[in-house]
Amino acid sequence: MSENPIFYGRRKGRKLSNSAASAIRMGKKHLLQKENLLNIFFENDKKKIVEIGFGDGENLVQSAIKNPNFLYIGADPFLNATAKCLQKIIKYNLKNILIWPDDIRKIIKLFPFDSISEIKILFPDPWPKRKHKNRRLIQIDFINHLYNILKPKGTLTISTDHDILKCWILEKFQNYSKFTWSAQSFKDWQLKPTDCFTTKYELKSLCHNRNPSWFIFVKIN
Ligand SMILES: C[S@@+](CC[C@H](N)C(=O)[O-])C[C@H]1O[C@@H](n2cnc3c(N)ncnc32)[C@H](O)[C@@H]1O
Repeated sequence: MSENPIFYGRRKGRKLSNSAASAIRMGKKHLLQKENLLNIFFENDKKKIVEIGFGDGENLVQSAIKNPNFLYIGADPFLNATAKCLQKIIKYNLKNILIWPDDIRKIIKLFPFDSISEIKILFPDPWPKRKHKNRRLIQIDFINHLYNILKPKGTLTISTDHDILKCWILEKFQNYSKFTWSAQSFKDWQLKPTDCFTTKYELKSLCHNRNPSWFIFVKIN
């Protein structure tokens, strides 16, 4: 994975509303600074959970409310997403979320090995066209990094409602012997895990009668 990965999604959408722009100003202390990343791991021994592509932040924020003793690190390069998430963080006065408002691939190599208990990637962009398959986030290089930063027996949860991406994910993990797929029966990928909250893209998926799948991969020691 290159030092400067090319990001193909949107960085900016519609002009930020006044309240969103003010959340970006007021929420600065929740933004993760690359140079301070390691301090987070040396300064506290809280359980750490990473969410990649948090979108409007529904799952990140609800999880942080439910588990005040865990530290959540969310990454999303879409500025409007960061603004919406910061609005919620400020509203609920949350102190256990840090936001990296950029591509996770720019900092993932800086995380200490074996430091993260859970990683969640909910409804990643499917990039369904074959010619765009290299744009998908889930690539072997990237899985290697996820593996490195997870603690032994740490979990990686990926959801998607897109058939092409479902096959892509399963194929990648089938060939990756250092993770096991935890599913024992169809329910284990058809039912949402109890620790995931409904997001905008999950709702979109349900409105269109698509069936999201929830894959949980466990890091083998
Ligand atoms: C389809 S949206 C899903 C948002 C949210 N998880 C949900 O379920 O509503 C995918 C999100 O992943 C973010 N994303 C894409 N590539 C990313 C990357 N390399 N690092 C972090 N976030 C990324 C996008 O900006 C977008 O907000």
